[in-house]
Amino acid sequence: MKSHVWRPLFVVLAIVALVFAARKVLVPSDFGVGERGYMYGWHRPSNEQQWKDVKVKYRTAQHCKECHKDKYDEIKSSPHGNINCENCHGPGLGHPEDPKALDIDRSRELCTRCHLKLKYHGSGREKIRGIDPARHNPGLECVTCHWPHDPRKEGHNK
Ligand code: HEC
Ligand code: HEC
Ligand code: HEC
Ligand code: HEC
Repeated sequence: MKSHVWRPLFVVLAIVALVFAARKVLVPSDFGVGERGYMYGWHRPSNEQQWKDVKVKYRTAQHCKECHKDKYDEIKSSPHGNINCENCHGPGLGHPEDPKALDIDRSRELCTRCHLKLKYHGSGREKIRGIDPARHNPGLECVTCHWPHDPRKEGHNK
């Protein structure tokens, strides 16, 4: 056969050899020691400590309740009852030492994240009552009129 057939074949073989060589060097020796396959094969035992060292930034509403019980009780009995505090105020890790206070975001975007009317047929997102921000009191913060910890009530900053 002519060389123009062989040459690309050699190139392909060289690439395959290179991939195997790179794999030997780059993949840690304890990767996939459990078994072959997808269930436990993609596991590296030395990675377990790395995961234990990861600091979880979110503390859940139960944690906030220890110091902000009034807010907790109010929101739990409201239509916003199953939204976690940190969904709106950001992660609580370190607070109240550092940071001393968490974010208070009064932007319309905080609310339109959930209340922009979207037609996701069959999903829970579609069931959240939506507004058209271009027509629903544009230019004003939502919390002027709706109290975020109980949106059935009026805002406190009217
Ligand atoms: C150990 C008690 C404690 C816990 C737990 C705690 N906080 Fe606080 N929080 C405070 C204190 C004290 C302040 C006031 C700090 C300051 O303004 O100097 C504060 C301030 C805040 C503020 C700002 C209030 C303002 O008027 O500016 C927000 C928002 C807040 N906390 C939300 C949260 C959320 C959400 C959680 C749960 C992730 C949480 N806190 C957990 C004690 C706590
Ligand atoms: C839907 C978003 C949202 C959720 C959920 C939420 N907040 Fe707030 N929070 C706000 C907004 C917006 C303000 C500012 C309201 C204003 O002053 O107009 C605020 C104000 C606050 C303040 C300071 C004002 C005050 O009244 O003292 C604290 C403290 C606070 N929130 C804690 C919490 C805690 C604790 C939870 C959970 C139990 C929580 N928030 C859940 C949006 C939220
Ligand atoms: C994480 C999603 C989420 C965010 C963020 C959120 N909401 Fe809601 N809101 C809901 C859900 C879920 C309900 C209950 C279902 C419904 O009424 O459509 C609700 C209900 C409401 C209602 C109807 C209350 C009633 O009369 O029953 C108002 C008004 C409202 N929210 C205003 C706000 C405002 C203002 C903000 C921003 C400060 C906000 N929401 C942020 C999910 C959210
Ligand atoms: C000037 C006051 C005012 C402002 C600002 C305002 N709203 Fe409203 N909103 C109302 C009133 C009044 C109603 C009830 C009558 C109606 O449906 O228009 C309402 C109704 C709603 C409802 C329920 C709709 C339904 O179908 O039952 C939602 C959700 C809502 N607002 C979210 C928001 C969000 C999100 C913002 C900010 C982007 C916002 N509102 C800004 C006064 C306000």
